[in-house]
Amino acid sequence: MVFGRSSLTSRRIPGCQALVMVARDASMISSLSSSTVSGMVSGIITRCTSRILIWGARNVLRAAGLVTMPIATDDAGMAPTALDWETPPRLIYVSPSSQYPTGSVLSLEPRLALLAAADEAGAWIIEDDYDNEQRYDNRAVASLFGLARKQRVIYLGTFSKVMFPGLQLSYMVLPEDLTNVFQIGNAELYRGGRLIEQAVLADFMAEGYFTTHIKRMRQVYRGRCDVLCAEMERRHGGAVSPSGGHAGLQLLYHFNCPIDDTMVASLALTRGLVVRPLSMYYQEKANVRQGMNLGYGGVPVERIESAMPILAQAIEEQFRASRGRGLASSGRVATS
Ligand SMILES: Cc1ncc(COP(=O)(O)O)c(C=O)c1O
Repeated sequence: MVFGRSSLTSRRIPGCQALVMVARDASMISSLSSSTVSGMVSGIITRCTSRILIWGARNVLRAAGLVTMPIATDDAGMAPTALDWETPPRLIYVSPSSQYPTGSVLSLEPRLALLAAADEAGAWIIEDDYDNEQRYDNRAVASLFGLARKQRVIYLGTFSKVMFPGLQLSYMVLPEDLTNVFQIGNAELYRGGRLIEQAVLADFMAEGYFTTHIKRMRQVYRGRCDVLCAEMERRHGGAVSPSGGHAGLQLLYHFNCPIDDTMVASLALTRGLVVRPLSMYYQEKANVRQGMNLGYGGVPVERIESAMPILAQAIEEQFRASRGRGLASSGRVATS
């Protein structure tokens, strides 16, 4: 389904021409890279070299037969070097407003530099703005789509975060000259799509509930994020460093001492707690940092508090194990 310029995007994406609704981001990325759609847009997206960190999108791109190349990310977001442009990518996948999983935000200057370099290389950009509604600060920067002078950015948004994942609704904002081919390609790939859910969501928006819901949930998530930060600081202090926290439903913590994050995650899981190890997100295993990605989207404050001792115990056990192997210096990593 293609909507005209809507209130959903007009604030963040000046120049937005049309919205194409599809099921889930993964399907969109898949359709962007699939032979059906890419054939329609003259092969621009096939055989691309995409440089990404997120594992979900990476798997989808690879499944479509693309070669993916990682690009370094620091506290300020995606940080390509001159070397990265030596073999220019044909497609760049990036989540500039909240890099996943670090949560870092790409500021205006590197956004403009990325657009200029992509233009120079003739590369397309997929801008995944997956949690733009859940911002806790005023650091929102203009989207790449809105900043782009050449119309070579495809903007993705999803209702998985702001509503719930089971809804399986996402949208893409396309440059005007691509809307037609994507409309046809999307209809070929997904037929009618999820029309009932789209209609209900459209009513939900038209009647003003969507805006109220966003405001209410932002406060709820902000409260959870604050509790998580305070608990982590109280229990682990200097042993871990948070990353991001400006937006979204998860918080990343780096370990400041050598602890096997996959072991922490396995131990926590045996005690009923899901923790994602940072190391699993890396495409290249050199210079992997260890840490934990802690999601709080579906976890009320009381459960965050009751989960903390379990996490602390898993970290403490792993810290002791690494000390036993002579990896960590003495001292405590977790308290209670
Ligand atoms: C980086 C990123 N992009 C997009 C999404 C949304 O994906 P979907 O719309 O398939 O639920 C997620 C969900 O967790 C995500 O982590």
